[in-house]
Amino acid sequence: DDSTPPATLSARTLPALADYITKSGTCKKIVIMSGAGISTSAGIPDFRSPDTGLYANLARLDLPYAEAVFDISYFRRNPHPFYTLAQELYPGRFRPTVAHAFIRLLADRGLLLKHFTQNIDCLDREAGVPEELIVEAHGSFARQSCIECRRAFPHDEMLRHVQAATVPRCLNETCGGLVKPEIVFFGEALPNEFFAHAMLPREADLVIVMGTSLTVQPFANLPRAAGRGTPRLLINLEQVGGLGGREDDVLLLGDCDEGVRKLAKACGWSEELERIWRET
Ligand code: APR
Repeated sequence: DDSTPPATLSARTLPALADYITKSGTCKKIVIMSGAGISTSAGIPDFRSPDTGLYANLARLDLPYAEAVFDISYFRRNPHPFYTLAQELYPGRFRPTVAHAFIRLLADRGLLLKHFTQNIDCLDREAGVPEELIVEAHGSFARQSCIECRRAFPHDEMLRHVQAATVPRCLNETCGGLVKPEIVFFGEALPNEFFAHAMLPREADLVIVMGTSLTVQPFANLPRAAGRGTPRLLINLEQVGGLGGREDDVLLLGDCDEGVRKLAKACGWSEELERIWRET
């Protein structure tokens, strides 16, 4: 029955972790926590990598500091830098990565309890991960509305503005507020859906953290919610967020696509992963 704690295992090695996933019979609920690092191979820059990260390449927007481009108080004063950037980041031009395909594979196998993502690119949805299994902790470009009266703004209108890099205004003449995609800016609250599920890692049989620096709260606290004895796998270029500090933590330091390919191979899922990725 589900109340028995998952088999504690010192999964210091990938084969031991793969056996836990495929043979123990007690790894049924996997929670994934991801960030920009799972989309860089799709051509979307992450935020904080030196040289290639977005925050190192915004000089042309003449911002007081890099994060201002996603700061709600700065946006109110000057929405132009965001709308210049939105033209480059807007979904529709990028293809899901192998890491997204791996998340889809887990969902197909009924092993995905929830995918918490900080990304706003919707590439997990495009890879076919069921929407009800995704928590977009920092929102996404999927919807847009007026930041004053909250009135929704039509998608086709938004596309026009994004392509022209012009600033859309509320359709309510009496309001005239700025329209913004429903992505969470610094200074805004995360969606209720995040808090409604934030304790879910406690029920996980396995936590996988991928492609994130775990520097932004409250998302960065999620891995800590994993129960004792629940293995936590980090797939990331660098060690982050205290991962590796617990006996059952497993570190797969390196490229996300390579890391999920290694794990899929150890689980005997290589064929399935490549087929899913080819179809995205
Ligand atoms: N493979 C593995 N790791 C990678 C790869 C890759 N191909 N590319 C980048 N990384 C790693 C980086 O080393 C870094 O640790 O992914 C992490 C990306 O960290 P950030 O750039 O800080 O992105 P993220 O953690 O998603 O940022 C969180 O900050 O600006 C806010 O709201 C924004 O959601 C964003 C949040």
